[in-house]
Amino acid sequence: MSIQTPKIDRAVTVKTIRNLKGKEPITMVTAYDALFASLFDEEVEMILVGDSLNMSFLGKDDTLSATMDQMIYHTQAVCNGAKLPLIVFDMPFGSYMSIDQALQNTARVYSQTDAQAVKIEGGAERAELIKALVDNGIAIVAHIGLMPQHVRADGGYSVKGKSEEEILSLIADAKALEEAGAFVIVLEGMKSEAARRITEAVSIPTIGIGAGVDTDGQVLVWSDMFGFFEKFKAKFVKQYIDGATLIRDGLEQYRNEVKGREFPSSEYTY
Ligand code: KIV
Repeated sequence: MSIQTPKIDRAVTVKTIRNLKGKEPITMVTAYDALFASLFDEEVEMILVGDSLNMSFLGKDDTLSATMDQMIYHTQAVCNGAKLPLIVFDMPFGSYMSIDQALQNTARVYSQTDAQAVKIEGGAERAELIKALVDNGIAIVAHIGLMPQHVRADGGYSVKGKSEEEILSLIADAKALEEAGAFVIVLEGMKSEAARRITEAVSIPTIGIGAGVDTDGQVLVWSDMFGFFEKFKAKFVKQYIDGATLIRDGLEQYRNEVKGREFPSSEYTY
């Protein structure tokens, strides 16, 4: 039986999120448009406009071809729909290859959207770049473990933190990112022991996806958690509703009623 928790009733800031560490698990979901973002408003502390939209909404096989223009458009839509959660812009592959490029692209995010933070994949090797962004007033969500933007280089997706050596390397990454000024770290696709030890090793919140229960918060991709994305289902995804079946059932009923001239009945007619 789940506990009943209050809705979000005020705008969430970077400070709110930092202060939740050690007190209350942080909730985050992805959103890609105003319609669904408005449904998620008041329900979660954070919304990620994830480059996963390239797969679930554009139908590509991975996230790598997402562009700044595409992410800006979707983030503007999400910001129009949700007013309370802290909205995070996912920097697409190729948009932060150098410090200069990252500074220009993140400045564009702040000037063209109301997102309050940007997310960047990478460990200690990104620390210098992240420090430069933080020094220029950009709030950073870091992302380590399974990094979808590395899928082509890695030859697939694989769970991280399986050996002591890997866990120590992930902890070193997390510490370097905290030191660089990131205010949250997403931990994706790793053994729960690795996520627990990283969470204990840093003073900023960790948000897990496929990383077990011992992180400071959880994030799920909304089209996965509501059963709309049918191409594959990862082990860590809990489907809270069977969205695809709901839609198909609704459409079947609509088709039957239109073909049978039942719709529109007088109730729906001027
Ligand atoms: O793009 C995305 O949705 C993400 C989550 C998987 C964290 O990066």
